[in-house]
Amino acid sequence: MKVLITGIKGFVGKHLEEYLKDKADVFGTSRADYPEKNIFKISFLSEWEIIRLMEKIKPTHVFHLAGFSSVKDSWENKQAVIEGNVTGTIHLLEAVRKVDGKIRIITVGSSEEYGIVPDGIEKVHEGIPLSPVNPYGVSKSMVSMLAKMYFKFYGLNVIHARSFNHIGSGQRLGFVTTDFAHQIAVINKRNTKDNTMNVGNLDTIRDFAAVEDIADAYYHLGRYGKAGEIYNVCTGEGASIRDILNILLSFSKVNIEVMVDPEKVRTSEIQKLVGDPNKIIKDTNWRPKRQLEQTLKNIYEQWLYNL
Ligand code: GDD
Repeated sequence: MKVLITGIKGFVGKHLEEYLKDKADVFGTSRADYPEKNIFKISFLSEWEIIRLMEKIKPTHVFHLAGFSSVKDSWENKQAVIEGNVTGTIHLLEAVRKVDGKIRIITVGSSEEYGIVPDGIEKVHEGIPLSPVNPYGVSKSMVSMLAKMYFKFYGLNVIHARSFNHIGSGQRLGFVTTDFAHQIAVINKRNTKDNTMNVGNLDTIRDFAAVEDIADAYYHLGRYGKAGEIYNVCTGEGASIRDILNILLSFSKVNIEVMVDPEKVRTSEIQKLVGDPNKIIKDTNWRPKRQLEQTLKNIYEQWLYNL
């Protein structure tokens, strides 16, 4: 396998590089300059730059992780979200089509594509209609449709991963587990006088997987997934944000007062997003292996160590 990971210095990109290092020749792209010889600085706004890179590397597989990842920030950056996620993907797919249509591409989408889930559906499967409720979800829905279109009309070897929430070490602030773990670690490590932490909506329910399991899933899709298909990447288990908070608070050695900050409560929010992982399990034999509590412990300890 000769792999190109776009966005290799991002949260998932770093974990996927680590996972693949004994299995493949790994190359990557980034927006910034890095000294490593296998990492190339390119802009996804230039199709020509991607074509040149494809001709140079000649990958067998492309994992397209580069793009905009924050649901919350997408409201303030609508244009950038469409450029980063949609235009960038079109440029990649065009480059592959022009250089070598046999290259296997994994486009990465999101459970946010589903948006409003029809009543009565406990675990979202790939067949339900898409009804996204924020610019990020709209952009990833378009990516899934582009993947289908390039498969159908150009015969590209593309698979779309619809990933649910993924967490682990190296995720930046701005996502729920890092925002919570960081505040609890600061209170514990710095002996602050004010032991309060701020949170947003605690009632939503999400399907959290460890980022190491997500990297494993992308590899399985790259090896065994069926071209033209869409796969949920999820555990099938829901946890409320209150559950997540309580697990993280259980690691604290001091009492912490929790305050709901109205600024952090989102105006448009999907109440529950839990995925059905049966299709990826059936076609690729991938299964999530990590326990949520242990993953949260690792995240908390990483923050304690970093502070
Ligand atoms: N970020 C954040 N910070 N979220 C909070 C907080 C807080 O202090 N308090 C409560 N929440 C709630 C949010 O309102 C949301 O319901 C839930 O926690 C998860 O928020 P995020 O961690 O920001 O993730 P997300 O679900 O919006 O998006 C993530 O998952 C998607 C897949 O479902 C991202 O990783 C996306 O890139 C990914 O596609």
